[in-house]
Amino acid sequence: MLALLALFACNSTPEPLYPALPAVWGPTAAENVSLDENVVEVHLSAGMSSTTWVDGSPTDTWAYNDEVPGPLIHAWLGQTIRVVFTNNLNEPTTIHWHGLRIDNAMDGVPAVQDPIQPGETFTYEFTPPDSGSYWYHPHMRANEQVERGLQGTLVVHELDAPAVDNDRYFVLDDVSLTSTGGFTSFSIPGMEQMHGRYGNTLLLNGKAELVTDTIRPGAVERWRLVNTANARTMYMALHGADARVIAVDGTLLPTPFAVTGELQVPIGQRLDLEVIPQADATQVTLENVVPTNSGTASIPLFEATVQGEPGDGLQRVWPAAPLPVVQPSQQHLALDLGAVQVAGAIQWQINGVASQDSEPFVVTQNLPSTLKIRNQSGPEHPFHLHGQFFQILERDGAPVDEPGLRDTVLIPGMTDVLISTDFSNPGMWMAHCHILEHAELGMMSMIDVMPPAMPPAH
Ligand code: C2O
Ligand code: CU
Repeated sequence: MLALLALFACNSTPEPLYPALPAVWGPTAAENVSLDENVVEVHLSAGMSSTTWVDGSPTDTWAYNDEVPGPLIHAWLGQTIRVVFTNNLNEPTTIHWHGLRIDNAMDGVPAVQDPIQPGETFTYEFTPPDSGSYWYHPHMRANEQVERGLQGTLVVHELDAPAVDNDRYFVLDDVSLTSTGGFTSFSIPGMEQMHGRYGNTLLLNGKAELVTDTIRPGAVERWRLVNTANARTMYMALHGADARVIAVDGTLLPTPFAVTGELQVPIGQRLDLEVIPQADATQVTLENVVPTNSGTASIPLFEATVQGEPGDGLQRVWPAAPLPVVQPSQQHLALDLGAVQVAGAIQWQINGVASQDSEPFVVTQNLPSTLKIRNQSGPEHPFHLHGQFFQILERDGAPVDEPGLRDTVLIPGMTDVLISTDFSNPGMWMAHCHILEHAELGMMSMIDVMPPAMPPAH
């Protein structure tokens, strides 16, 4: 009888396919309205909103669900993400899922979908093939739409990740504001044509003031960092804690490495850290190190007071897959990044043409490939490839140790980089500079990844 009851109990409450999603500290998570366990469905809208960054003066933002940054969208690896998106802006927009190797049709760029007009709804649906930290943003007039606040985080959780005391997402941004809280002009004046739009106000998770919290002594935390600025490479300093980089862009690193000194966070890139407070620390702080006329200044963005029940303080073993072995290259692309003056303004180019004049580069899917990207200009360019991961092989002809599968690489002025990919994801993909002013002024191109031709029929 007892056995039978147990059997009944079993039958009436089937094992859930997925555990509850872990909490992520930072941007509020979007509500999952799906009744199907295999699907996470969230509703998102872009519209005009307002926030206060300058004392007493509201700033007119554009925001997803009225929040800057927009809500966190998260799911377990294996789950499908459905985003029912409504455009309540006065201009067309799209959403690009930065770093995710998803179906080309869902990439959210005008080359693969009609721009979503004001008042229209579009449903994005995809099943991320990789776990990790990602983000999303518009891919139309991005220099204004992203700066005004349209940007959000996306996390695909590993089912086999080790337990941590806290999982935090830090969105690093800067905005360029007038003294009365308005955005400075979006007309891209001369300095911004050259270096992009640098903000005068740093934001952490949409806050212009110091963000505070507590952290347990001996806590083991996962911190996800993303730089969503238009133009500023972020340099971060961590005090009172030891940290290891455990993931770069999407993927966990087989060999995490210790953070020593300042941590460079290029635009668009994500870095996941394992953070453990030092034994004698009373505070853990995260600072943004910015250049000044006389050197650098450290601006604290996050301060956690060490208190509470001690954690175990033990480094975790992260479930990283080995990095793919780089095969001899069978196809090669050379991309030269440069600029010319056109009618008194800077036009940014790839291989001598601006985006509006460019033809897609055509490559074959699933072939070991290399790309040599030469920065022939003074300013740096954070170069981003949609839909694929790559590995960094060389800089200026010399092998480098910058491990990980990436979607973004920073290329300093007058240097070059050699990267390797196998173009595993077919479709029409963008490759561009993530300084949004450079991109708008021409530094965007398309790579058409074609499935291999079928052998002739017998
Ligand atoms: Cu983060 Cu083409 O974009
Ligand atoms: Cu650039």
